[in-house]
Amino acid sequence: MRSLRDPWTLAGIELPNRLVLAPLAGIGNWFVRLQAKRHGAGLVVSEMVSSFGLHHGNERTVEQFLRIHPDEHPVSMQLFGHDADVMRGAAAMVAEAGADLVDLNMGCPVRKVCKTGAGAALLDDPDKAVAIAKAAGEGSGLPVTVKLRPGQRPGDRAGVDLARRLVDEAGVAAIAFHPRHASQQHKGRPDYDLARELVDALDVPVILSGGLLSDERVEDAFERSGAAAVMLARGSLGNPWLFERLLGRRDDEPDVGEIAAELRWTIDRCEEHIGVQRAGHYLRKFYPWYAERLGLTRAGKQELVTAPTTADARVALDRIEAAATAADAA
Ligand SMILES: Cc1cc2nc3c(=O)[nH]c(=O)nc-3n(C[C@H](O)[C@H](O)[C@H](O)COP(=O)(O)O)c2cc1C
Repeated sequence: MRSLRDPWTLAGIELPNRLVLAPLAGIGNWFVRLQAKRHGAGLVVSEMVSSFGLHHGNERTVEQFLRIHPDEHPVSMQLFGHDADVMRGAAAMVAEAGADLVDLNMGCPVRKVCKTGAGAALLDDPDKAVAIAKAAGEGSGLPVTVKLRPGQRPGDRAGVDLARRLVDEAGVAAIAFHPRHASQQHKGRPDYDLARELVDALDVPVILSGGLLSDERVEDAFERSGAAAVMLARGSLGNPWLFERLLGRRDDEPDVGEIAAELRWTIDRCEEHIGVQRAGHYLRKFYPWYAERLGLTRAGKQELVTAPTTADARVALDRIEAAATAADAA
């Protein structure tokens, strides 16, 4: 019986289990990846980073995007772009920064990305896609994986054909597969049977993404697809405990104290990352995930999600915890 807890090897890299943190744009920085790691993720993937951004970037941008914490290894850095030479240079920078793997984004459906010929647009330009994957390997000297989708629209299988070429011609070490078409963006039911087909067709590991929002769905999709591993994305937002439950390290939901401590940890790390002022702004994206989990009243939620500064967020958390303690004592 296959288990998410089984160790495995990806391109010679030993991974302790089958759980991977998915790439999440604007979110998957070093401290989010470190959080997933602390809670059990076997491999973490960075938010997508522009190869052109690295190529032209100033030192601060490069440092921010390529920052890797010593405790988050093994870590894969995801790059996107449409030019093989630029990708070669960017992949070299990623290797220099200490990444263990390079992942290439060939699945992003966002217009801003596709109109440049990157992301999911590469599904329809297989020669370029293969050249980019080869260049990433040459530039970095690291194993390269590619994350892609089945195609642009239902019925389109360009991504399945491309996956095979990437393995055969560019030596790609694994395919991360999100079996929703680009036109579906992140909605609709992922086609796990198609994922199973890809698993059977390729002789490299397939990592499954899509619809992995709860313990049951993850277990079921892992089983049905036969994938080597699964990537947790939206299911992990403000919910690193999902990793622990899937690994059998706990079977309950976190209480208010645990959730508050986790968010305080996140605030502290974010301040370390980008400074107190910018953290106050950036974290407003994170608060609703935790507010949801804390089961707050509307007023309690409001105070946290609109906290203008990190100091205000900490005060809101103190109040939330005090209220929960008082309710327990009553
Ligand atoms: C906010 C957000 C940001 C994302 N950013 C990326 C990204 O940078 N690179 C990528 O390959 N996929 C990205 N994705 C797609 C996810 O990695 C994942 O494939 C998708 O959310 C499906 O999984 P889920 O249904 O379990 O959330 C993103 C998804 C979301 C919701």
